[in-house]
Amino acid sequence: MRLLVPPGVFRPISDTWLLARCARSLAPGARVLDLCTGSGAVAIDLARHGAAGVVAIDVSRRAVLAARLNARLNGARVDVRRGDLLGPVAGERFDLIVSNPPYVPALDGGVPRRGLARAWDAGPDGRALLDRVLAQAPRALAPGGSLLVVHSTICGEDATLERMRAAGLAASVVARDRGPLGPLMRARAAALETRGLLEPGAREEEVLVLRGTLRALAARDERANFERTRALQPMARGPEGRTIQ
Ligand SMILES: C[S@@+](CC[C@H](N)C(=O)[O-])C[C@H]1O[C@@H](n2cnc3c(N)ncnc32)[C@H](O)[C@@H]1O
Repeated sequence: MRLLVPPGVFRPISDTWLLARCARSLAPGARVLDLCTGSGAVAIDLARHGAAGVVAIDVSRRAVLAARLNARLNGARVDVRRGDLLGPVAGERFDLIVSNPPYVPALDGGVPRRGLARAWDAGPDGRALLDRVLAQAPRALAPGGSLLVVHSTICGEDATLERMRAAGLAASVVARDRGPLGPLMRARAAALETRGLLEPGAREEEVLVLRGTLRALAARDERANFERTRALQPMARGPEGRTIQ
């Protein structure tokens, strides 16, 4: 894949490609959403692996322009939209949602509003964006659809699994990549230890891909409930006494 990554846009790293590899087998025929797309790498990869349609979102203007350019360069059809998380796709449903959100605990505990640090700084524990993704994305899944997110064990594996399950998804870890702390986490190791996010002296992390799948059964139950409720409601009548559905 040819990728142009202008200044101010996140350069794909091993997390990016780990997420893409985990998602490829789910892409053929799927309507895909890549949240926090950056240069568009994952979106383009999935378009090239048979996705029926790919929408990609990023809040950064530069990232949106880069993703559009990269999609063109690679002959991939990707609908790139600018906005905050799922805002630009309100009411739409996807078979597959993938995300490599910012997940590094910020030294000042905040979430930057601009600049390249917006690509990684994510609140005091690294979960500021991740938890918003986990709150919003399940509602945008089609029946049987999957959400795949990538993040470090530093931000908490169980917290993600629990949130996926609370949203009605069947959740599991589908990939683990153990290695030394990345440069940002390494530079912040002392603060991570103080906050209890890293064991004293530990200098390794695992990068995880976690998958949550909306059970087709749950979707069927929802449909049955809807039908039951509709059957109980009095039907409206048209001018000639016809029933209006
Ligand atoms: C870690 S980078 C990942 C980029 C790309 N997916 C990759 O793996 O190479 C996170 C991206 O999230 C974007 N981002 C940060 N906050 C966002 C928000 N509220 N809504 C949408 N995108 C956001 C950043 O601009 C950045 O491009």
